[in-house]
Amino acid sequence: MTGAIADDLLTAQASADPYAVFDALRREDPVHWSGPHRAWLVTRYADVSAAFADKALSNDRVRPVLAKQREERERNENQHGARRAEAGGDDGRPASASERVLALMSGWMVVSDPPVHTRLRKLAAGAFKGQRIAVMDARITALVDELLDGFLRGSGEQDLISEVAYPLPATVIATMLGAPPSDRDLFREWSDELALVAFGTGGAARAERHERALRGLNEMDAYFRGLVAQRRAEPGEDMLSAMMSTDESDTQTSRDGLSDDELVAMCALLLFAGHETTTNSIANATLALLRDPAALAALREDPSLLNTAVEELLRYDGPIKVINRWVVAETELAGRTILPGERVHLVLASADRDPDKFADPDTLDLTRSPNPHVAFGKGIHACIGAQLARMETRIAVGRIVERLPGLALAREPVWKDALASRSMETLVVTH
Ligand code: HEM
Repeated sequence: MTGAIADDLLTAQASADPYAVFDALRREDPVHWSGPHRAWLVTRYADVSAAFADKALSNDRVRPVLAKQREERERNENQHGARRAEAGGDDGRPASASERVLALMSGWMVVSDPPVHTRLRKLAAGAFKGQRIAVMDARITALVDELLDGFLRGSGEQDLISEVAYPLPATVIATMLGAPPSDRDLFREWSDELALVAFGTGGAARAERHERALRGLNEMDAYFRGLVAQRRAEPGEDMLSAMMSTDESDTQTSRDGLSDDELVAMCALLLFAGHETTTNSIANATLALLRDPAALAALREDPSLLNTAVEELLRYDGPIKVINRWVVAETELAGRTILPGERVHLVLASADRDPDKFADPDTLDLTRSPNPHVAFGKGIHACIGAQLARMETRIAVGRIVERLPGLALAREPVWKDALASRSMETLVVTH
């Protein structure tokens, strides 16, 4: 093993400090086949950027899994059916909970390629128009202040994630979809359940949690269906109503609006894509500032730094380490031949520390500009919620820095062993 490159991103050491692993990969083998991950790890900025534009790399990865599950069920049903028919019984069983959730997820634009993706993205875009997001500024500030009031009432060691960074984004999404405030807690549960089902495999305890999560997601499906019916009957100023309304001047869209099933899937996607990412963005940003007292002091002194600071914090220790692509046609990346059926991990967190793109990449420079980081991706799938995510991070970090002048790290954080996300278990601080 001596001399072999460390390429398991899921060891405790790599989870705690992935950047050392990324450095070595970038230097020694920038497009590297990883045995542990059974995937190509792409770690340089230039190659990650090229990959975003490569049509041989597909996002369509849930539909094939769903098709396989359906096929297996139908095969089983046919066998059982034949036996039941012999015994005089009826055949046909309902789809499993996992199949239903996969069916919901397979409609997400983030796991679709053009032309399916093009249509969904266009229909969702109205809900993310600049003005619609801009009006959220005051509401997000009020929400952050409400959470910080609760946090300030506590004393001693407290977890900034569970008290502030975790509740905020789910509440923002619930509010934007027009759900009543009393339902906020449900959104948080569903978001966790979606993450478990989307990423989770293995382990008996996990299998049991997985089953429970599937039941929860069925409830979520029913809830969103109800919300969609309400908004169809009585449209409001919310995001869901915006996704329903079709622009009369746009004949293509008005003929072909989102169906109820697609709206339900869209609600779930926004929760899935917008919750954990934003929680981790706020938490990782706060940790980076706590570890760099000079940067923290500079930001306290001059809050006008906040806009460039947020971009730099996203670059320096952003919430997404890796995104996936399936290879659908032979292609080449940095001289390596990548074959159909293989998987590619685009290591965003490594691209954002590439010295060929960023001067002093391991230094947190809150004034860095321009800052062409890829924390929100690039190309056709680039984050549709980026403006909202930036706003939430800016307001949360700004208010934390301003309202908690005595903020200090109480314990070394423990990082989750997660491939896709850069995520702490807790961020225990005193104030
Ligand atoms: C700091 C927080 C966030 C980060 C770092 C982030 C990052 C990303 C990235 C890297 C992608 C591209 C995925 C790919 O290429 O496969 C993406 C897509 C997406 N994001 Fe975000 N995101 C954040 C917050 C949000 C929020 C708040 C929402 C909405 C409420 C959201 C909704 C979406 C959606 C719907 C997509 C799919 C877009 C498409 O497929 O065209 N994200 N995000």
